[in-house]
Amino acid sequence: MSLGRTRAVTLEGVRGRVVEVEADIGSGLPKMVLVGLPDTSLNESKDRCRAAVINSGETWPNRRVTVALSPASLPKSGSQYDLAIALAVLAAAGAVPAEPIRDAVLLGELALDGRLRAVPGVLPATLAAAQAGCRRVMVPEVNATEAGVVDGISVVAVRSLSHAVALLRGEEPPDDPPVEPLATTENLSWQGEDRWSGLDFADVRGQPAARRCVEVAAAGGHHLFLEGPPGAGKTMLAERLPGLLPDLEPEASLEVSAVHSIAGVLPADAPLVTRPPFLDPHHTASIAAIVGGGSRIIRPGAMSLAHRGVLFLDEAPEFACHVLEALRQPLERGSICIGRAERSATFPAHFVLVLAANPCPCGLDFGKDARCECTQAAKRRYKDRVSGPVRDRIDIYRKVEPVRRHEVRDELGGVEGTSVVASRVAAARARQQQRYSGTPWRVNGEVPGPALRATWPVHATGAAWLEEHLAAGHISARGADRALRLAWTVADLRGDDRPMLDHVKIAYALRLSEPLPAAWPTDLPLAAEVA
Ligand SMILES: Nc1ncnc2c1ncn2[C@@H]1O[C@H](COP(=O)(O)OP(=O)(O)O)[C@@H](O)[C@H]1O
Ligand SMILES: [Mg+2]
Repeated sequence: MSLGRTRAVTLEGVRGRVVEVEADIGSGLPKMVLVGLPDTSLNESKDRCRAAVINSGETWPNRRVTVALSPASLPKSGSQYDLAIALAVLAAAGAVPAEPIRDAVLLGELALDGRLRAVPGVLPATLAAAQAGCRRVMVPEVNATEAGVVDGISVVAVRSLSHAVALLRGEEPPDDPPVEPLATTENLSWQGEDRWSGLDFADVRGQPAARRCVEVAAAGGHHLFLEGPPGAGKTMLAERLPGLLPDLEPEASLEVSAVHSIAGVLPADAPLVTRPPFLDPHHTASIAAIVGGGSRIIRPGAMSLAHRGVLFLDEAPEFACHVLEALRQPLERGSICIGRAERSATFPAHFVLVLAANPCPCGLDFGKDARCECTQAAKRRYKDRVSGPVRDRIDIYRKVEPVRRHEVRDELGGVEGTSVVASRVAAARARQQQRYSGTPWRVNGEVPGPALRATWPVHATGAAWLEEHLAAGHISARGADRALRLAWTVADLRGDDRPMLDHVKIAYALRLSEPLPAAWPTDLPLAAEVA
């Protein structure tokens, strides 16, 4: 038989599609043709496969080899088809048995010496293979742990082409050296746990109101804007937010891991992301790094890597306008669509957004005796960089001033640490999960205004109070909806069944950076106020 057939997976965003790979050896001058909309990176596969086959001690057919990838209408790119192509050719040549690979999915990039290199996206590709009914996937050994998290499909890990050939022939596999993974835990400086496992909420002294804002943001999945002069502790506060969030649920964990797999940042020794990710891209990072993109293969950026976690834009006004504008799509839809000339990719991007900003370009415009010399116009321009539509989607806005020395001293030992606050957040999230079970929402921050008003209204006194402020123009209609969501989170944190007037007042204060009751949320009754 001169026809070999196997399968591979092509990825569009995080969704994979199984692709048939057929190899035909026909008469004609020695040549290899690859058809089925391959791009340049995939076309290079021809040379890699040929070299790898020869260097693995096998024979490359000295005739015309045609490899077709179907469906032919689907554009394909990347190097993950190498293994499938090489083995389809060897099967067509009769060098390996054709049957075992016919229904298997084969993934991996070949080095010229035949080593099988790691490729990005093995986790979502394996998911797609399992969903398409495939029973077996053959992957580079270094990607095997991530493929292994998918249920219902058996994973065959191989180090090299000769290893794969030996397995198919039922021979003893060669003793090849291990291949480098794409990413290891060490070189992932952003990888949540390492960065913030040592950060405790108790490190933040003073700032009772700002601390509460962070707690509410964590409890209800609310977006947060912190504004204040340099050194006020904005970065400190934001970095401690992910530590307050509970572990990812299994489904979310798989979603996040799939995105990280495509980005090639999933460590080989920790294939499942179980903690909410924390991404804090620098404002000088490229658009592709933040939003996602790339010329040939579209890769997710920080916005998608922060899926189900926290995206922190420190010094937000310093970010490029189109980065800030690009936030609108994920904030509205929870996903981001990146279009290129021939294709587009959609990645999930559902995160808690934290923005931090100085009050003005020089950062000194705060307090009574402000030394700021920025002009009004400069301040205005600086503020306007984070546009209305983005600001509008922020639930909590808080002005932060530097702590005074005596505040730091007085409080030693008295502030709540991460574990205490996180347990309150977990309890509040449990209440929300129960309330919203059977709906697409999990936390208050996700529930649309109309649904909230119709199904989970706040107490009439609270609603009437908010209505007055709306009528007086103190808050916009959208702002009022955000306040209702916040009121629910406040109630959930306090363990109250339904938001009353007090909760709505707190929500209003959270939204507009007004003083908050000191006793909240742990003690009743609501008493003195703190700035
Ligand atoms: N509330 C606070 N409690 C303890 N240390 C603080 C506080 N605010 C600021 N600091 C100290 O100041 C440094 C700068 O804080 P940072 O969070 O970077 O401020 P910002 O981001 O507002 O400029 C921190 O590393 C910390 O040492
Ligand atoms: Mg900072």
